[in-house]
Amino acid sequence: MHPMLNIAVKAARRAGNLIHRAADNLDHLTVTKKSHADYVSEVDRAAERIIIETLLEAYPGHAILAEESGTQGQSEYVWIIDPLDGTTNFLHGMPQYAVSIGLQHNGVLTQAVVYDPTKNDLFTATRGRGAFLNDKRLRVSKRKEMADSLIGTGFPYSNFAHIDAYMAIFRDLMQKTAGLRRPGAASLDLAWTAAGRYDGFFETGLKPWDMAAGCLLITEAGGMVSDLKGADAFLQSGHVCAGNPFIHPQLLEIIAPHLTPGLKA
Ligand code: IPD
Ligand code: CA
Ligand code: CA
Repeated sequence: MHPMLNIAVKAARRAGNLIHRAADNLDHLTVTKKSHADYVSEVDRAAERIIIETLLEAYPGHAILAEESGTQGQSEYVWIIDPLDGTTNFLHGMPQYAVSIGLQHNGVLTQAVVYDPTKNDLFTATRGRGAFLNDKRLRVSKRKEMADSLIGTGFPYSNFAHIDAYMAIFRDLMQKTAGLRRPGAASLDLAWTAAGRYDGFFETGLKPWDMAAGCLLITEAGGMVSDLKGADAFLQSGHVCAGNPFIHPQLLEIIAPHLTPGLKA
C-alpha cells in the first residue's frame, strides 16, 4: 500500500472507531445547526481532529481542507477531509455514513479512502493502482441500458437554488431507469458506484470533501466522473455525474435538456 494511503487509512479507522462508539449514545450528543437542515455534532468535530492529527503527525508540511475547520497550511499536498459524511443519518441512528479522506497532489487526486464504520467497509484507491473494497479489487458495473440501471442521487436539502431543474431530471430518470436511491452519504454513493452497486450517480451542490475520495475510487474502478455537462470542473462546481462508461453518457444526455445556467457552471 502507498505510504500516504496507509496513513489515510489509519486516520479513517481512528475516526470511524470514534464515530462507531458515539453511535450508541446519540441522545447525549451536542448538536448545532449550521444552516437549514445542516447539522454538526461534537462527533463530527472530534473525528475531524483525530484525522488531522494523524495526517499531520506523519506529514507535518501537508495542507488540509476539512469540512468543519476549513483550510490549514499551504503545500503541493492537500488532504480533503469529510470526518463524518452523512451526519443526518448518523444523528437519526440510520447506519449509512462514512469517513472520507482524499489527497490532492498539485491539484490531482492521488489517494482515496472512504470508510463505513457500520459495515467495516474500507474503500481505497491510489491513482494508477486501482480501487479496492477491503482487499477485493473494484470494477464499475457492466450494465449498458438505462432501463436496467440503478441510479443513486442526493436530494437538495439546504440550498434550493436548483430544485426545479433537479426535480425535472428526477422525473425523467424515474421513468427511464430501473430505480433511484437516496441513501444520504455522497462519499458512499460514489464508493458504491465504484463497486458496481449503482450504474450511475448524480447530485448538485456537493462540496469537495463529499466527493474527492469517492471520485478517485470511481475512475480507478474504470468509471467516469464529470460535472453535469460532461466537463472536468465537478470539484469546483459541486455538480457531479458519474457512472460506468455506458451509463455515464446516457445520464448526461437525460440531464442536458434540464440544465439551467447555474448548473452549467
Ligand atoms: C451530506 C451527505 C449527503 C449529501 C449532502 C452532503 P454531510 O454530507 O453527503 O448525502 O446529499 O449534500 O452535504 O453534511 O452529512 O457531511
Ligand atoms: Ca459530506
Ligand atoms: Ca460531514
